[in-house]
This record gives sequence, C-alpha cells and structure tokens, in this order.
Amino acid sequence: MEPRWAVITDALGRDGARWFRAPGRVNLIGDHTDYHAGFVLPLAVDLDCVVAARPRAERRVTARSLDLPGTVEIAADGSDEPATVDPAWGRYVAGVVRALVEAGHTPDGADVVLSSTVPPGSGLSSSAALEVAVSLALGGSTLPARHLARICQRGEHLATGVPCGVMDQLASLLGKAGHALLIDCRTLTADPISLPDPLAVLVVHSGLSRTLAGSAYADRRAAADAAAARLGVPALRDVSPEQVGDDPWARHVVTENERVLAFADALRAGHLGRLGALLLASHASLRDDFAVSTPELDLAVDLLVEHGAIGARVTGAGFGGCVVALVDRPHVDDVAAKTRARYRAETGLDAAAFVVQAVDGAGELDRPPAP
Ligand code: GLA
Repeated sequence: MEPRWAVITDALGRDGARWFRAPGRVNLIGDHTDYHAGFVLPLAVDLDCVVAARPRAERRVTARSLDLPGTVEIAADGSDEPATVDPAWGRYVAGVVRALVEAGHTPDGADVVLSSTVPPGSGLSSSAALEVAVSLALGGSTLPARHLARICQRGEHLATGVPCGVMDQLASLLGKAGHALLIDCRTLTADPISLPDPLAVLVVHSGLSRTLAGSAYADRRAAADAAAARLGVPALRDVSPEQVGDDPWARHVVTENERVLAFADALRAGHLGRLGALLLASHASLRDDFAVSTPELDLAVDLLVEHGAIGARVTGAGFGGCVVALVDRPHVDDVAAKTRARYRAETGLDAAAFVVQAVDGAGELDRPPAP
C-alpha cells in the first residue's frame, strides 16, 4: 500500500470510507488567458490530493490534513465564513462547502482526511486539487464536471479572495492520460491532444514559492479588466490583434491565445520543431507585457534552453513557483542536472526538477486499498 494511504487508513479506519483523488496540473501554454474567456493547454499530472471521507449523520464536516498541522470543523450548511477559518488550508474546505450550498446543493456531513503530493505555492494547482478532491467527497461526484469546476473556482474565491479563472479546476477534473487539454474557457469545452512520446514534460521549481501571488494576481486581473473596458469588450478574447495597439495587457492575452492555438495545431500535426519558439514567446510575453515573471524564473528558462530544452516558460500564475520545459526524452536527466547545478551556483537556491506524466482527471478510487 502507498505509505500515505496507509496513514489515511490508520487515521480514518477502513470501513465505510470512500476515497477520491484529484490531480494537480501543469499548464503547457496559455497563462492569464482563462479569466478573459481565452484558451489554455494544461495537463493533469501525477501529483495529487487524495481524500478519504466517512459520512456522519450530523451536518458538519471535519477535515484533517496529514501534511499540514491542525484540523477544521465546518458547518455543512455553509454558514462558516471561509476566509476566517484557521488553519488556513481549511479555508479551501470551507470555501467548497459554501460554494456547493450557494449553487443549491446540500453537502454531506463527513469526516475527511486528506493528503497531497502537489507542492503548495508552486504553480501546479495544489489548491485546485484539494478543492476538487474535497468537493467530490462531499457529494460533488454526482455533478457534471464543468458545473463542479465552477463550484470549486468559486470555493477558491471565497477561501482566498483571489479572483482566479477556471483552468486549474477544469484541468484537474477533465485530465486525460497521455494528453494535454485544449480548453476554451468561454465554452468550457476541452479537446484532448496526444502528447508526443519523444518529448518529456520537465518541471523545474525556482525554489521560491508564490507568497505574494494573491494581491499581484488580483492586480494583473484588474489591469486586464481595465484594458477590456477601454477596448469596449467584455473579455480580451474578443479583441483582434489590430485593436490591441500598444496596450501590453491586451497584447499579452491576444497573442497568448494565438500561441495556444498554434501550439495545439503543431502538436496535432506532429510539427514538434515549432513548439519551442512558442514556449519562449509565451515566456517573453508573460515577462515583458504581463509582468508576472521573476529574475529566478527567467534564469531557469534561460538555463534550460542553454542546456538543451527545446523551450521553456513560467507556468501558472507566476511570481515564483515553477517553469515548464519540453525536452527530448533521452536528454531530460542531463538537462535537469545541468540546469540545477548552474541555477544553484548562480542563485544559491535548490531547484527541484521532475518529469511529469499526463494522467486522468479526478474521480473516486475503487479502494480503500488492501492492507
Ligand atoms: C492561476 C489561476 C488560474 C490561471 C493561472 C494563470 O493558476 O488559478 O485560473 O489564471 O493562474 O494562467
């Protein structure tokens, strides 16, 4: 049995519990486009949040994390204010409970134990994985995935005040093994696109977590909203390249949407030689127009390319966390080792580097596992 499952089983007992898992995601290309109804291309990855839940008659949810200290107890009617729950990880649980209630559902009372391998503050959607896993355990598994993704997105808003888009929750729910998902964030349709076996998806953590991401993210979103208002459109998705002028916020979103679609076309056509330039152009746009990169993220991208990655870029919200690279599979260990060594020499920081696999989206596990 996987060690953390053994610990969950010890904490909750084996009988009567249902088990759910929800993966984190890495976004290959298309950042800061989702909240302007644009295009994104994430994959659900083999890092996940596992939740075991045992129903309780009383309409309360207790939650315990095996990774972080503290337990929380929340009224299942959504009356507890999510943003004030202590410890802070419990805010996501309370946010999901209230969002389920707001959407007209009745969360089940439950005792919940959770454990996650998605590193927090890394840009790999640890919070979305937690929200999705908990929502499934509280009755969400009977709801359509897109509806549940919106509920979990709302849960994140309630928990953190960060006005995130819907990419992370959708990727966690709709992921497909071996595929990235081309998601249209207006229609919420997701087209799986097969990932080419010759290329490994390498994630490198800058060693700095996204501690200031909340207010910085909200600032970027406000700037993009203001740009849309100036251009007279509800969402920057609707702006043409000619309309952009010299507005950097709109230019990023418009050109990033074009890059996502070009990247998806190149993947489908097997034109792998086109991918690297698109990744690098995305990074440059996020750095120069949208101002969400950092010197460390820029350095990680440069070192990855210098050591043989075909392309690399900041992934997720930015302001720290991870970069994602595509690397010819036979070279991936070499590229990772050389990048880490130089990064450490230049910054003094330890950059974790790991290859991720694309996995299926969230769901119930047909376990508890055997003893
Ligand atoms: C965070 C948000 C997403 C998305 C990305 C940037 O991960 O949760 O909705 O906006 O940042 O692409």
